[in-house]
Amino acid sequence: MSTKDFITTEDYNKEEILKIVNLSLKIKAAIKNGFYPQLLKNKSLGMIFQQSSTRTRVSFETAMTQLGGHAEYLAPGQIQLGGHETIEDTSRVLSRLVDILMARVERHHSVNDLATHATIPVINGMSDYNHPTQEIGDLCTMFEHLPAGKKIEDCKVAFIGDATQVCFSLGLITTKMGMDFVQFGPKGFQLNADHQAKLQKNCEVSGGTFVVTDDLEAIVGADFVYTDVWYGLYEAELSEEERMNVFYPKYQVNQELMDKAGKNAKFMHCLPATRGEEVTDDVIDGKNSICFDEAENRLTSIRGLLVYLMDNYAANHLIDSAKQAEAKADLEIFLGKPL
Ligand code: CP
Repeated sequence: MSTKDFITTEDYNKEEILKIVNLSLKIKAAIKNGFYPQLLKNKSLGMIFQQSSTRTRVSFETAMTQLGGHAEYLAPGQIQLGGHETIEDTSRVLSRLVDILMARVERHHSVNDLATHATIPVINGMSDYNHPTQEIGDLCTMFEHLPAGKKIEDCKVAFIGDATQVCFSLGLITTKMGMDFVQFGPKGFQLNADHQAKLQKNCEVSGGTFVVTDDLEAIVGADFVYTDVWYGLYEAELSEEERMNVFYPKYQVNQELMDKAGKNAKFMHCLPATRGEEVTDDVIDGKNSICFDEAENRLTSIRGLLVYLMDNYAANHLIDSAKQAEAKADLEIFLGKPL
């Protein structure tokens, strides 16, 4: 897969990821100060959703509007995606109708197939494998909340709970940055051998580390404590009773667990949260919770990512200014008025 697309951060090196993060934070500062750079003027984004979403959908749509473009929401069940029409044909058609695509899919192969057949950039808005736009937003949030005197690669991140796609994604981005990553989760719900091989590959390049364990001691000293909803493996979601039997109380992020990590540890959650299950009210609403900054940074990072990908795409599809002027003159003659 070329970097035309953003399907997994495995396709990007640390410097490229940092460029997207820094661009995201620069655009955020500009907009916070009232300057809305029209970097996506006249551009259209197609947003394919096979599942519901609050943060991802609203972030993409708001980002396009703020940067001068437009987003079209293609709701679950609203378009053919591998049904009557093949994914290949849908990709080819949408490549002629919009400038960039994002897709939240049930199965990862669907977003891979879209990207393979599209001639425009395709962004993975979450699959059963990973959630790469969440990764960039989370990294923006960690940079904004770096402990005093620490660099990003000095930080330790502990994910509490089962090996969701968000857990794997957090492992990918932290090990890519050279950070220390821990998954504290019960046996049977831990990152598998394939996941771990990918984290190991990142660590060999970055100098980061990772640990997968059901030993609470591993979270001591974490700068960031992160969790996600408990729902078991994708193919076999657990009932509420089963979830509580597997994860409660050992893997609930409550004040006692936060104290175990350390008094300055920050709490993160990709949201939506099931309060009273994976996290207690006092933690999510507490002074060390940064999960609502994290939600805001979905928008921050998606703005940066859209601009980064469209800039790359434009650099490979340069406009011939002589031909542009000729087409404009031709249209002016046809309409009988200057444009
Ligand atoms: N974190 C996240 O992806 O939220 P949504 O499912 O609401 O998009």
